[in-house]
Amino acid sequence: MTLEYKFPEGFWWGSATSATQIEGATNEDGKGKNIWDHWYEVESNRFFENVGPQITSDFYHQYKEDIKLMKDIGHNSFRLSISWARLIPGGRGEVNPEAVTFYNNVIDELLANDIEPFVNLFHFDMPLELQHEGGWESREVVEAFVTYAKEAFRLFSDRVSKWFTFNEPIVPVEGGYLYDFHYPNIVDASRAAQVAYHTVIASAKAVEAFREFEIVNGKIGIILNLTPSYPRSNNPADVKASRIADLFFNRSFLDPAVLGEYPQELVEILKEHGQLPITEDGDKDLLIANTVDILGVNYYQPRRVKAKETLPNPYSPFMPEWFFDHYQMPGRKMNVYRGWEIYEKGIYDIMQNLKTNYGNIESFVSENGMGVQDEHRFLKDGQIQDDYRIEFIREHLKWLHKAIEEGCNAKGYHLWTFMDNWSWSNAYKNRYGFVSVNINTQERTLKKSADWMKEVSELNGF
Ligand code: BG6
Repeated sequence: MTLEYKFPEGFWWGSATSATQIEGATNEDGKGKNIWDHWYEVESNRFFENVGPQITSDFYHQYKEDIKLMKDIGHNSFRLSISWARLIPGGRGEVNPEAVTFYNNVIDELLANDIEPFVNLFHFDMPLELQHEGGWESREVVEAFVTYAKEAFRLFSDRVSKWFTFNEPIVPVEGGYLYDFHYPNIVDASRAAQVAYHTVIASAKAVEAFREFEIVNGKIGIILNLTPSYPRSNNPADVKASRIADLFFNRSFLDPAVLGEYPQELVEILKEHGQLPITEDGDKDLLIANTVDILGVNYYQPRRVKAKETLPNPYSPFMPEWFFDHYQMPGRKMNVYRGWEIYEKGIYDIMQNLKTNYGNIESFVSENGMGVQDEHRFLKDGQIQDDYRIEFIREHLKWLHKAIEEGCNAKGYHLWTFMDNWSWSNAYKNRYGFVSVNINTQERTLKKSADWMKEVSELNGF
């Protein structure tokens, strides 16, 4: 069969998820609490239909069957995260042997099915005790993270060679310290800057620790949600607004992680507004010496901006939005369930940017996907006919393919997500999976996109 879009040999086909979103079993086998368990206990109304993280998709008990389904639909790789609070309850001290058994079993089961595990260390899930110590605002918590990372490398790196320090580290900054959609619900830009800075330092320190292990073929990276900034027009005011949005939301993590230093213009802006974080001697050298080997790119939506219409209220809390307004482009294509624009070419623009400005670092699409509400509307003959998802993936893959043809160093595509999972405040509102999950019975059913993906991964294209 001749394929119009053939991907390079060994392309990674798979999906991604995170511990809190699928494992469930939050009180079992010695797991400690994380901020999600706690926030749900104290404010369950902040979660769609009051559904919390206790059970989610029950992967803790059903991982064997789930991994078999991954195999059935052609996955050759799968990204999961370790729950810090499960592995080291409280975040510090003794490793929980039952957690070690669980993660060993999952890793072994993946390998037995020829699926390479990509393991991420932190996906929004701070152990509660450490949050009480200040979370990422605290430099001691950074040290606790490095100890946890070393334990994970020691326990699992005989079988896991691809590691990631953080998933979307900017999200806890935005959600927890700027825009009130994650615990601890603080609105304070200078504390946000400290949290961001400490996660960057924690990542670099974990990279440094990883290299001491000398893992054969080992690679360590970070996963960033890159939202390319597009100005409304070429008017210099719009272009400047777009550049500043890019500094805040992309380059604040991309530059230190990949280039080993912060963009000077961002530092100047924060300095001018008295928002610079506290740093320590030696941090600069640490960053420059410990850039990542590989970059995971999560891409869902672009960020369209324009120059501000009005001056910011000088008495309001300092925000990135002091420098730009969001721009709603007429005719934009929307995923209305999530409120996110769909702009497939964004994936190509990101890859070209990485090629031109970031040394063409090895990368892959580590998340991309479409969450849709009430998917049972599309049930036909017992299967959800998610043609919209197939189209979504296909159109993104076309642009990714073009980028690769033009020399971009992209090695794979992981969908968010394998099976419907729990989301941070939307719970089970929007469904993203190849596999549908009935949250009452935990029954799994392949959607049409799963059948399509099986074919794509077997043919290595379409
Ligand atoms: C990414 C995260 O931001 O997008 C996932 O890494 C998340 O954890 C996914 O679930 C989809 O976003 P949401 O908010 O619709 O679940």
